[in-house]
Amino acid sequence: MTSNTLIRCAVVGNPIAHSRSPEIHQAFAKQCDLALHYDRILADPNDFSDHVRGFFAQGGKGLNITVPFKELAFSMAQVRSPRAELAGAVNTLWMDNHVLHGCNTDGVGLLNDLIRLGFDPKNKRILLIGAGGAARGVVLPLLSAQPSHLRIINRTTQKALDVVHELAAQPEPLATTTRIDSGDLNHIEGTWDIVINATSSGLHQQSPLHTAPVFSDNGLAYDMVYGNEPTPFLQQCQQAGASHCADGLGMLVGQAAASFFIWHGYEPELEPVLASLR
Ligand code: ATR
Repeated sequence: MTSNTLIRCAVVGNPIAHSRSPEIHQAFAKQCDLALHYDRILADPNDFSDHVRGFFAQGGKGLNITVPFKELAFSMAQVRSPRAELAGAVNTLWMDNHVLHGCNTDGVGLLNDLIRLGFDPKNKRILLIGAGGAARGVVLPLLSAQPSHLRIINRTTQKALDVVHELAAQPEPLATTTRIDSGDLNHIEGTWDIVINATSSGLHQQSPLHTAPVFSDNGLAYDMVYGNEPTPFLQQCQQAGASHCADGLGMLVGQAAASFFIWHGYEPELEPVLASLR
């Protein structure tokens, strides 16, 4: 793909200086010879919608939305994907025929990362910890991969139950073979192939679980938080016998790749970009 016209994209958040999205998107653009300018936009709740409108009014192609504006972006989008609807959050915006579209690519990012790591969720038992925006954003793509069992557990049990109820009412067809249930943070009995931490506990240097789950022989522990050190959750799971531990950097690159595909129609290669970020 070659384009001489400069295409403008950006990520909006607060704080935003730390965001790695510009370097990820520039690396993708290089792969397909796309002339891309990708900015960071610092917004606050009062001027977020002005930034979004102004960006598209000036011919901008696409926006990534990060903390704490994914819910505001959701309410601005005039057309939303079912995945965004279940998440109640949008991380990707674009304009089509003067209509603002919103999607949530976090779940696809996670799913692709699991597959890249050799843990295709098909027929696997998955324990998902958390029922906030991050967990909601990944539930439908996880289910599309047809695990045998998906259990959602959360500190506030009712929120996990709410997600299960909403799943039953959403339009995307679900695999009928998947058992779906929910519970509190102690509801971890059984053996798990993939355990995903979608809570923000790692940001407070805590694991959400008092006791580690039991892993199957080839078990994966995945924390959506990423950083230089393994999170307390990953350390706990490693001690409990998880054969593989992964942080969320691959998910970050994966969600960016899915946004890139929506805006530019090109599926970038993830491995070289991940390697350079590490
Ligand atoms: P996000 O968009 O990152 O998901 P959120 O919607 O505020 O943020 O949700 C945070 C999630 O982390 C929730 O599932 C929360 O549990 P509650 O619903 O009970 O609040 C979970 N969480 C945050 N800190 C936690 C901790 N120390 N232990 C366990 N769960 C925690």
